[in-house]
Amino acid sequence: MFAGRRVLIGVTGGIATYKVCEVVSTLAKAGAEVRVVLTDGAQQFVSALTFATLARERAYTDADFWSAEHGAPLHITLGQWAEVILIAPLTANTAAKLALGLADNLLTNIVLATAAPILLAPAMNTQMWEQPTVQSHWQVLQNRFHHLGPQTGRLACDSVGTGRLVEPLEIVDYLGSLLLTGGKKDLLGRTVLISAGGTREFLDPVRFIGNPSSGRMGFALAAAAAHRGASVYLVYAPTELAIPQGIQCESVISADEMAEALFSQFATADITIMSAAVADVRPQTFHTEKLAKAELPKILPLESVPDILSTLGERKRPEQILVGFAAQTGEDFLDLARKKLFVKHLDWIVANRIDKPQQGFGSDTNRAILLSKSGQCIEVPLVRKLVLAHNLLDCLVATCDPYTLV
Ligand code: CTP
Repeated sequence: MFAGRRVLIGVTGGIATYKVCEVVSTLAKAGAEVRVVLTDGAQQFVSALTFATLARERAYTDADFWSAEHGAPLHITLGQWAEVILIAPLTANTAAKLALGLADNLLTNIVLATAAPILLAPAMNTQMWEQPTVQSHWQVLQNRFHHLGPQTGRLACDSVGTGRLVEPLEIVDYLGSLLLTGGKKDLLGRTVLISAGGTREFLDPVRFIGNPSSGRMGFALAAAAAHRGASVYLVYAPTELAIPQGIQCESVISADEMAEALFSQFATADITIMSAAVADVRPQTFHTEKLAKAELPKILPLESVPDILSTLGERKRPEQILVGFAAQTGEDFLDLARKKLFVKHLDWIVANRIDKPQQGFGSDTNRAILLSKSGQCIEVPLVRKLVLAHNLLDCLVATCDPYTLV
């Protein structure tokens, strides 16, 4: 995703600057060419040398502003060099300048001199963030730039409120999306409903039937769709993953709860992607008290849980797009997936073999074949789940009727 790609990072003066060091380090280790531009304020927190060392490239400050690189002013060369730009942390001061188009330092000049997609990640004290002037600038910027956060939580000034920089890895994923898509917002105005993780069916308060699904594929799909401008609703079964920013989320445990959450959102969804691994059966009886070892049945009577995807397939209107997953083992995985595509009335199904290394439950990567009801068959090699998510969304965007919004 990042190897050989050119990422410019603008750092402005806030305490969250230290978290941007991790963004730079992660990108450089992933093979990206990273150049960092620091404002005077940023250098009060972290030095240019720190960023240059982490990026394995020189870092720029306003002292370089009047220098030329390859015969052109630096802000022009850097603006044209960048394939994607991140500004983090974005301070109230730089936000105001960007909203007005002011250019009084190297970074703000680069912003005016680039065609690259720009991601803004603000961070500041809650009182500052909530100022009407800051909010009115933010309104302007949200329409013009990609943006992430700020989060709500405990701030460096010890208060609790909105103003935290989003987590570095979430920023890195968004940059990955911008590089993969060129920053296009081709899902703007669309509602995407996604399920993720593995449901659990409890026998008693401590034992359940479940599966090892980590939720990574569904979370990657939710992030990718949001990065492309969609309004995303994520229904997730128990997971260790951090809940992503800017996405409406609902947490569930059992298949019944997942069904209820999805059924209530389905009518207004343009695209629904069922990536959750639903435990197919549940114990016939739930015991409210923990069973002692000696009380555990030798044979456990089971009953089926509802097939959520089949019900969605029956309810689906023609303009809605419905996608299922078929996590299979064995050589006949494609035939089994194709059967599910038609039996469950789907538009697409993602067929993947979970009995191969690096593409099973819990892995960061996946390999799959995307099958459509109209006969398309697209092979996706072993890639990060975020990349697979974008490959699938590319197919769905091409299938969406551009004139029909649900
Ligand atoms: N699915 C569902 N509800 C269930 C079981 C599965 O919505 N009770 C969905 C999954 O989320 C997935 C698709 O159906 O998108 C296929 O799931 P899978 O477990 O492969 O298929 P099953 O229909 O359960 O068939 P089988 O287990 O017999 O292979």
